[in-house]
Amino acid sequence: MEAVILHGGQGTRLRPLTHTGPKQLIKVAGKPVSQWVLEQIRDTGIRDVIIVLGDNAPTRVVEYYGDGSKFGVRITYVYQGKARGLADAVYKVKDVVSDKFLVYLGDNLVPYDLSKFSSFKGSASILLAKVNNPNRFGVAVIKDGRVVKLIEKPKEQISDLALVGVYGFTREIFDVIESLKPSWRGELEITDAIQGLIDRGREVNYEIIQGWWKDTGTPKDILEANAFLLDRYAESRIEGVVENSTVDGRVIIEKGAVIKNSVVRGPTYIGRDTKIINSYIGPFTSIGDQSEITDSEIEYSVILDGVKIRGVTLMDSLIGNNSTVEKGGRWQKLIIGENSSVIL
Ligand code: G1P
Repeated sequence: MEAVILHGGQGTRLRPLTHTGPKQLIKVAGKPVSQWVLEQIRDTGIRDVIIVLGDNAPTRVVEYYGDGSKFGVRITYVYQGKARGLADAVYKVKDVVSDKFLVYLGDNLVPYDLSKFSSFKGSASILLAKVNNPNRFGVAVIKDGRVVKLIEKPKEQISDLALVGVYGFTREIFDVIESLKPSWRGELEITDAIQGLIDRGREVNYEIIQGWWKDTGTPKDILEANAFLLDRYAESRIEGVVENSTVDGRVIIEKGAVIKNSVVRGPTYIGRDTKIINSYIGPFTSIGDQSEITDSEIEYSVILDGVKIRGVTLMDSLIGNNSTVEKGGRWQKLIIGENSSVIL
């Protein structure tokens, strides 16, 4: 069985971070979201991975993952080109998958035992989860233990069971996609394609999952995903230098990092060659590579690579690559991209 990772989409709700690359490459707990997905797939024993690329800096994805050998998988890339919806992205793998395959949305994190998909019955297998905001998702209506209807972004409350971004398909899905019409948002919806299987009398299996999962579409989702992954996976590992500092709890400090006159409380991730000087780094925080944090306090935040932070206190913050945040005098001076959020 092959696994297909969908790596397209515009990531509008994560602008300006997605102006320079796809949302799936945003690092949480030290790794891009789609690397967590890729490693989960690999750890299930699947070696053949197909990445479907969108038109937002696809070369960055290819540069990062290469042929997959660094990650223990074989990667084939397929270009979707202009985004026309998830079903269109799935259709693009028609020539490279065998009879049964797994599709994983590269911006979702679903800690689920994927090996259960290897023997799924019927034409498709979906995962569902109870949510409070079903209008943000595709939802499924279940009657007498069967999936009877699926609707993408329902306007009315017909079900609170959302489709989670992992699907098992057989090649039958391609026939349905060929006859699919764009939805009201102008996309070929994967939800409508699964509905097409039901309309043709095919069997769609489902499982309702419990517990945490995440579609990392917004800054708040990124912070929550970071906290969850640190909480679940961070183990103490100190490869950098710690001088005159307190490091408590599960803290990962990568090679070349220097922690000086500071307090770091886990679970926390500090990237390569990053300097933390006279600062406090609190729980559920990830700091990327080659960043410099001086005279600051940071908690429950994601700071990406090459960031400079001086003299500030930050919480619930998401700071993009190569940004600078520093304390000024009486006047605050800001250079802010579109859709940014600043609380001073
Ligand atoms: C997509 C799917 C939706 C699914 C969701 C899961 O939504 O269209 O059916 O519930 O992923 O994350 P989108 O992220 O395109 O809004």
